[in-house]
Amino acid sequence: MVKVAPSLLSADFACLGEEVKKVTSAGADLIHFDVMDGHFVPNLTFGPMVLASIRKYSHLPFEAHLMITNPEKYWKNFAESGADIIGIHIECEIDHISIIKEIHKYGKKVCIVINPPTPVEKIYPFLEYVDMVLLMTVNPGFGGQEFITSVVDKIRKVNEYRKKEKLEFEIEVDGGINDKTGKIAVSNGADILVAGNYIFSGDYKERINSLR
Ligand code: DX5
Ligand code: ZN
Repeated sequence: MVKVAPSLLSADFACLGEEVKKVTSAGADLIHFDVMDGHFVPNLTFGPMVLASIRKYSHLPFEAHLMITNPEKYWKNFAESGADIIGIHIECEIDHISIIKEIHKYGKKVCIVINPPTPVEKIYPFLEYVDMVLLMTVNPGFGGQEFITSVVDKIRKVNEYRKKEKLEFEIEVDGGINDKTGKIAVSNGADILVAGNYIFSGDYKERINSLR
C-alpha cells in the first residue's frame, strides 16, 4: 500500500494545527515538515518551535526534512520537538555515518535525502544504515514545481539496489507529485509520496486517495 505524506509547505500557515488535523483525518500516513534555512536552499520556513506546537494535532509520524547547511547542529532540536524521522541531505558536508548513528541512538528514524543533480551512487554506502531514502523530484526550496522526469531512473536504480542487497529501507519521493507523477514513481519502486501543492489545492481526502 502506497503511503502518502502531505507537505505542510503548501498548508495555510495561519492555522497549521487545523491543517495537520484535517490531513490526518483525510487519511495521511505521515506528516512532512520542510525545514529551510535560506542558505542550503534560497527560502526560509519554520523551525523546531513550530514543530513542537503542532505536534499534538496528530498521532501520525512527523518527518523533518532538513534543507539546512548544518543538520548536525539542529537535528536534535527537531527530535526533541517530536519529529519521528529526521531527513538529512547527502549534499551536506558532514560525517553522515556518525549523525545516522547518533539519531538512531536517540531512538529516531533516519532518511537520507538526495537532490536531482546528485549522482545516485553517492548514497549507496549509507543505504544499509538508513530507514528511508528520499529522492527529490524537484530542486528543493519551493512547493508547486514540476516533477523532474529524469529522477525516475534513480528511483528504479535505488529499488534495484535494495532488492540486490536485500535491504528494507523505504523509498520516498518529494516534489511535483500528483495523481499522474505519483503513479510513475510508484511503478518504479517508490513506497511513500510526499505531496504539497496537489493535496492542499483540492479536497484533501479525494487528493490523498487519488495518490494511492
Ligand atoms: C521542496 C519540498 C517539498 C515540497 C513539495 O523543497 O521539499 O516537500 O513541499 O511540494 P509540491 O508537492 O508542491 O512540489
Ligand atoms: Zn520536502
